[in-house]
Amino acid sequence: MKIIRAKDYADMSRKAANIISAQVIMKPNCVLGLATGGTPVGAYAQLVDWYNKGDIDFSEVTTVNLDEYRGLPKEHPESYWSFMHRNLFDKVNIDPAKINLPDGTNPDAEDACAKYNQIIHAVGGIDLQLLGIGHDGHIGFNEPGEAFELETHCVDLTPETIEANKRFFDGNVDLVPKQAYTMGIKTIMQARKVLMVANGAGKAEIIKKAFFGPVTPEVPASILQMHPDFTLVGDEEALSLI
Ligand code: PGA
Repeated sequence: MKIIRAKDYADMSRKAANIISAQVIMKPNCVLGLATGGTPVGAYAQLVDWYNKGDIDFSEVTTVNLDEYRGLPKEHPESYWSFMHRNLFDKVNIDPAKINLPDGTNPDAEDACAKYNQIIHAVGGIDLQLLGIGHDGHIGFNEPGEAFELETHCVDLTPETIEANKRFFDGNVDLVPKQAYTMGIKTIMQARKVLMVANGAGKAEIIKKAFFGPVTPEVPASILQMHPDFTLVGDEEALSLI
């Protein structure tokens, strides 16, 4: 496990974008596992900036996103499909045919998840997986208590996650989808490199627990202690307890 200390959110975003950019430069046809949430937005903005300056080329890159809400139309502004297009895909030269997210519009959970697993296997697995971390230690939508050996599956969001995400749905918990399709911990652990971004004092406790406490399904991110190539980029506040 490698920990990179950043001064603040902008510095964290630039350092994370640097690692992603290095991956794309070293292997132009790489598979990037991407994440949504507030934390990676700055890293995506930095990548867009470098793309506009001609410093990075996404034309051969394949992407697989971590997760998608079940039952939300793609075009809904809070679907992860929309999030990714708004923050990255619409702004760089990525080939739309190489963009992959779980199909949240497929009501057949087993089918949707099996198809997503097939896609990940067919592209040869993930070279670099980007992750945020939830306050309860979730990664993707893998909530506390989930088995470590799962691939893509359907999950019920916990009340805490629904509460944390209501800010994106007019502050109304009733509008937040209650289920999602998510890559499992097994899928994430099979990525050749894993990069986590974390910022703000609100993440300090969970960062300490996840990476300096026992490896346990009660803290899903703690399994990353066992990953052979895991890097955490955090700002001073998020790393203040370690
Ligand atoms: P955040 O979400 O980046 O919006 O804090 C992280 C997560 O829940 O994975």
